Amino acid sequence: MFLSNPTLGTKEAYVPGLTQEYVAKTYGIPVGDVAKLGSAENPFGPSPKALAAVKEALKVESYPEWTARALREKIAAKYGYKPEQVICGAGETEIMSWIIRTFAAPGDKVLMFVPAFPIYHMAAENEGRVPVFIKMTDDLDFNWDAYLAAIKDVRIVFLTNPHSPTGRLLKLSDIRRVCEAAKDQLVVLDEAYIHFSNTNGGMDLVKEYKNLIVLRTFSKVFGLAGLRVGFGIADESVITPMMHLKPTWNMGALQVAGACAALDDDEYIKMTIETIAKMRKYILDKIASLNRFSVVGEPCSNFFLLRIEDPALDSTMMFNELLKRGVIVKDGSISFINLGKRYLRIDVSLQKQMDRLAWALTDISNAA
Ligand SMILES: Cc1ncc(COP(=O)(O)O)c(C=O)c1O
Repeated sequence: MFLSNPTLGTKEAYVPGLTQEYVAKTYGIPVGDVAKLGSAENPFGPSPKALAAVKEALKVESYPEWTARALREKIAAKYGYKPEQVICGAGETEIMSWIIRTFAAPGDKVLMFVPAFPIYHMAAENEGRVPVFIKMTDDLDFNWDAYLAAIKDVRIVFLTNPHSPTGRLLKLSDIRRVCEAAKDQLVVLDEAYIHFSNTNGGMDLVKEYKNLIVLRTFSKVFGLAGLRVGFGIADESVITPMMHLKPTWNMGALQVAGACAALDDDEYIKMTIETIAKMRKYILDKIASLNRFSVVGEPCSNFFLLRIEDPALDSTMMFNELLKRGVIVKDGSISFINLGKRYLRIDVSLQKQMDRLAWALTDISNAA
């Protein structure tokens, strides 16, 4: 048997959301009726322009340009940076793993709130870095004093804006406080869901702070989760060593073509954002009228965190009961450490899916 690298340390594998096909087959529900509300994807799918560009690029006999130059140039122009300040990867998650490998040695510490996107701690533990968890407050708000105090002992600091799983938007003043406290640390601002907040997020702060990298993805508002494209923007001194570490031809021609076209389709993005904002209000109003659940904070994302108030129910029971009724959500107790048994993360989607969710929640509550 081959011995693996002794610094490999992950104890668990990522738990992905279930597929519609699996739920349809298991519970005998027509696949088109299953509401997939566990992965925060765009319910409209990709923009037709992005799909056309992918088809157009189907000449794959040659190696792609190894730095994804065309996409980096487009992203740089859109956000007001130089192409040398942009790095592209197979989703943000790939870039997160390079950040950890580039800026923290085995044994170094990586700071994050809990609960948070699980890849932060899994990527850190993978090769012997040590996650430092700062618990959010009892009502799942940011505990800034504890967070700021912990920065001096770590190498990398993760922030999510809006935060997952709560959907809470960060204040720019809090991001600034973190960047300023992080004298020798790299701050990673994960803005996977920022479009749904209708703000520009922290992208412009890269002009002020050389120790900040902002990550964005094509998996959410751009509807291209299966294509695998994400990017980071930072000072060149942050990007250059990561370009040396990344696998040389990590970005294929189809990824670059699809992402370039998606970035230009402003109409499609606007339509998605407006629909999600409208449906978020629609479903939150319906949930308020049920009286058995509450919603954490004021969600600024395409998901919200539902708190189960009825002591007769818990998140795993609810998750399973929702599945039987053709609704896929995230069970907080499985997907997020330290979240406990009272929370479900649920996507905002189209009216048909939201109506199914409201019906299923009502039906389960009535039966409890
Ligand atoms: C907070 C957060 N960041 C990043 C990602 C992953 O992005 P990507 O698909 O670009 O790897 C997710 C995916 O669900 C997420 O929830």
